[in-house]
Amino acid sequence: MATRAKSPFEASSLAVREADLRTSIRPTVAEVDLAALGRNAARIRATVGPSVAVYGVVKADAYGHGAVPVVSVLEPLVDGLAVSLVEEGLELRDAGVQKPILVLGAYYGHYHSEVLEAGLTPVIYDAGEFERFGRAPVRRRARRSKKARTGGDEGQWPVHVKVDTGMNRLGLDPGAIPGLAEVAGGFPHLAIDGLCTHLASADLASPDDTLAQLARFRQAVSAARAHGIRPRVIHAANSAGAVRFPAARFSAIRPGLALYGSMPSAVVARTDLEPVLSLRTRIMALHRVARGGRVSYGGRWRAARESAIATLPIGYADGYPRHVEGAEVLVRGKRAKVVGAVCMDMMMVDVTDVHGAAVGDDAVIIGCSGTETIRAEDLARWSGTISYEILCGISKRVPRIYRGKPGSVP
Ligand SMILES: Cc1ncc(COP(=O)(O)O)c(C=O)c1O
Repeated sequence: MATRAKSPFEASSLAVREADLRTSIRPTVAEVDLAALGRNAARIRATVGPSVAVYGVVKADAYGHGAVPVVSVLEPLVDGLAVSLVEEGLELRDAGVQKPILVLGAYYGHYHSEVLEAGLTPVIYDAGEFERFGRAPVRRRARRSKKARTGGDEGQWPVHVKVDTGMNRLGLDPGAIPGLAEVAGGFPHLAIDGLCTHLASADLASPDDTLAQLARFRQAVSAARAHGIRPRVIHAANSAGAVRFPAARFSAIRPGLALYGSMPSAVVARTDLEPVLSLRTRIMALHRVARGGRVSYGGRWRAARESAIATLPIGYADGYPRHVEGAEVLVRGKRAKVVGAVCMDMMMVDVTDVHGAAVGDDAVIIGCSGTETIRAEDLARWSGTISYEILCGISKRVPRIYRGKPGSVP
């Protein structure tokens, strides 16, 4: 009888953790700490105080963390949720989410009826779209539980109107508010329950652009009121706006990144927020590379001394950026440099100075090892991008393991 070849992990003195085997054979996993998420939400809430509503932004699969598990923790802690796509909102409704869900991306195609029937709150940026919602037939059945799900008044369907105050991406020109008010008058079953804008530069060193946007937004709110629009919810602030500009908080905020423990720039850095996601794998192979030896496609990295090069089973198909400069991972609590081109499924790191580095060792891509930490912000800096892109870019083939909530892996 043929003997089974030993896997490299069996050769390691470290046991493969049960959690890995339950989710994938390959040990590349993203761990999501739901308890940290809850603590971050509480910290953001404490920053803005009880009179400001919090809409937790969970678009893009909760910034790569997994929208449904994230919302299972977030829902009791926030006043509402915000997604980009109708499809994302429907996923949450299908999972039983009851809180109001704003659709920020505002792309409705021909699905206006379905949006209202699902109890999603559309963000609208022109009068024509308002009219399409106004004319959309809505089945009665959905109305029964509408109040609980939307937060709107019984008998009316809430919508939020977005005003462009300087980002020039999406939003009604403030000058178009009287026209919108006129159109809205023709559809009394729709209520303009919210008025919002989006800040383009709240994380930049100079506050000037944000202050100018806020001034324009205040004028737009006054103009809307002067034309009989009585929005209950006024909101402008993303994470940076909420943390840095008390004047941007109005009656609600829309934090995303801060909930996941990151902030968009050093200007708005918060030391109290905990990274929610960590990304780790294990060394799958080790090579002795002689001085002058080359590593990976194109052989662009050349060993300046005899080196120990570890291969990790993670690559750009998992969302690790292909173009990095000076990037590091953590092995045995030490920093090891990424060397050679990052491949689709693998990458190599120099563990020459990591004493005892062995096949099967944990390799931390984002997270802590010993006293060292790599944050999504670090990986973003090494690859010339932002932490948003790093988190959202972790691909679906990387299993998410949830910790910190009953029923999740301890
Ligand atoms: C309209 C809108 N509001 C709020 C947010 C949340 O922003 P942040 O993740 O910076 O808090 C975003 C994210 O891009 C957004 O597009």
